[in-house]
Amino acid sequence: KFLAATGSLIAGLLLATSAQAAKVYQVGTDAAYAPFESQNEKKEIVGFDVEILKAVAAKAGFEVKFINTPWEGIFATLNTGERDIVISAVTITKERTQSMDFSKPYFEAKQLIAVSQKSKVTKFEDLKNVKVGVQTGTTGDEAVQKLQGKTSSNIKRFESTPLAIKELQNGGVRAVVADNGVVVNFIANNKNSKLKLIDDPSFEKEFYGIAVKKGNKELLAKINKGLDAIKKDGTYDKIYKKYFGK
Ligand code: ARG
Repeated sequence: KFLAATGSLIAGLLLATSAQAAKVYQVGTDAAYAPFESQNEKKEIVGFDVEILKAVAAKAGFEVKFINTPWEGIFATLNTGERDIVISAVTITKERTQSMDFSKPYFEAKQLIAVSQKSKVTKFEDLKNVKVGVQTGTTGDEAVQKLQGKTSSNIKRFESTPLAIKELQNGGVRAVVADNGVVVNFIANNKNSKLKLIDDPSFEKEFYGIAVKKGNKELLAKINKGLDAIKKDGTYDKIYKKYFGK
């Protein structure tokens, strides 16, 4: 009896310590955004963001569980507590900063325009009266709203960026405005896409951040500490090189 009691006491202690050592945070990501986050053949979520956050977690002493989460509503999951962290190539914007907290920036990006190789579009302004596909609620969506007006009927919104690109290839829209990394990756991996990219100087620099629930200072501090550590020891550069070369 004594042995059994001691045994379960030890088991209990082990459980308690391992639970403490490995706080598992639920991470939301819209895994249709290669090379940042996508699903491989085994349905595992992989990509630049995944490797960055795993490396951050290893340095800061927590664990992460990635959960594929639709982009629409992804930020709301922080407030409901369904997700502790959102890493999803999220641009830090003034508006978003009001409803969630962001880590230090971990990636610089910008918008690009994808069009058919035959398109006569050469600059962003050419899209003023043209049907443009965007992923709902992204910074690409915001950019086109600025050009065409918020209520423009020429903005076609899609639940994912790959769906917007597919519509461009089908001719349903004449352009897609989306983050550079994603459209560059798409064209590199689809040699017959018949698409080309247009860079426009009017697009501003964007910076991706890792989001947590507003006021979750403790978790944010851990994430920032981890980010600093992986930047310092070369881990960040290694992951960057793997996905973006150089
Ligand atoms: N960077 C853009 C934004 O924050 C697009 C991000 C979309 N991310 C995704 N995983 N679908 O609005």
